[in-house]
Amino acid sequence: MSSGGRLDVARVRGLFPALSDGYVHADGPAGSLVPENVAHAVGSAMRMPVANRGGVFPASGRAEALVTGARAAVADLVGGRPGGVVLGPSTTALTYGMARALVRTWRPGDEIVLSRLDHDANVRPWLQLAATAGVQVRWAEVDIETGELPAWQYTELLNRRTRLVAVTAASNALGTRPDVAGIAAQAHAVGALVYVDAVHAAPHVYLDKASLGADLLAVSAYKWCGPHVAAVVADPDLLVHLQPEKLLPSSDRVPDRFETGTPPFELYAGVSAAVDHLAGLCADAYGSRRDRLRISMAAVARHEGDLFDWLDQALRAMRHVQVLGEPERCTPTLSFTVAGMRPRQVAAELARAGICAWDGDFYARELFDALGVNEGGGAVRLGLMHYNTADEVGRIIDAVAGLRPR
Ligand SMILES: Cc1ncc(COP(=O)(O)O)c(C=O)c1O
Repeated sequence: MSSGGRLDVARVRGLFPALSDGYVHADGPAGSLVPENVAHAVGSAMRMPVANRGGVFPASGRAEALVTGARAAVADLVGGRPGGVVLGPSTTALTYGMARALVRTWRPGDEIVLSRLDHDANVRPWLQLAATAGVQVRWAEVDIETGELPAWQYTELLNRRTRLVAVTAASNALGTRPDVAGIAAQAHAVGALVYVDAVHAAPHVYLDKASLGADLLAVSAYKWCGPHVAAVVADPDLLVHLQPEKLLPSSDRVPDRFETGTPPFELYAGVSAAVDHLAGLCADAYGSRRDRLRISMAAVARHEGDLFDWLDQALRAMRHVQVLGEPERCTPTLSFTVAGMRPRQVAAELARAGICAWDGDFYARELFDALGVNEGGGAVRLGLMHYNTADEVGRIIDAVAGLRPR
């Protein structure tokens, strides 16, 4: 039972068969665990007759329903319109596809603005495609003390030639949540589009595409308890003006024309189930699925926030630990280094203590170069999810406190 909009973590943990391995899963930012309803939905879709789309028999109708269902679910998750949901194998693949479509609308001398806080998936595709089109790239810098991406700097970076601003809703390395709405308002004032990477934010924050000011917004379901499927959500009226690379016989409709090849219908069943899982996290939540998402994600934020404050403060108090940055508004994710130990060694020690934690640069290459930690092997990342408990945070704190260079 959940009361007062709080998360009943014991009930939630019972939904995840994978938690029976006994490990503390602090590796959520790289991919979360999957609840039973998602595994069941995928398995069921593979056990029933599901053909391809566009046929006149029931098995084809089921394929169509799985596509429609996944689009509706993602639209609920981010506050978008199902007709603007482009599904694909990963955010990286979808962003490359969108970049290829957008670059056709750019002219030499146009400009785009990237951020050094972002995962490389929201950097390299733009950088590489901009180079082919003679488009100039400007950079928004991170304050390396705080890990913030100050919104004020965009005043200098934007002008009438700016075509696109790519920015993250939350850093997968430091957890920083920039003022995306403030940045988007400035971008829109000069007529630029805003591409928001909400991949790391999605399992922690109630997303609303409109209030973020995102023209295109990317999410990956495997970060929020779903399968390996991603989506870019845009206004259908925007997609109508973009022409992706596609095969001649495949549909020219929006959003279908952005989806190449035959999709993984069974995984789409898992996408819908994963959004249902998030919407049901607070047992007291009521109303439409979007309403239940708002209530449940608020409960998730309280649960994760309480655990994270404890973890963050405990690690910052340890003399042998350096937590990178100190953003004001963040997801329950942090990266740290340990004096005298390589991040890989730290991760190995934590694994011996039964804790799953990643080490490296987490593809936040620009950020870690700016912070100067890449030469030392990057950092160790701890990320909490709604299925983590106070007991687990205690285990992490004890394990990090006990780390000593060998
Ligand atoms: C913030 C962020 N953006 C983008 C990506 C790339 O997503 P995908 O693995 O779906 O390509 C990741 C993956 O870790 C991420 O954390």
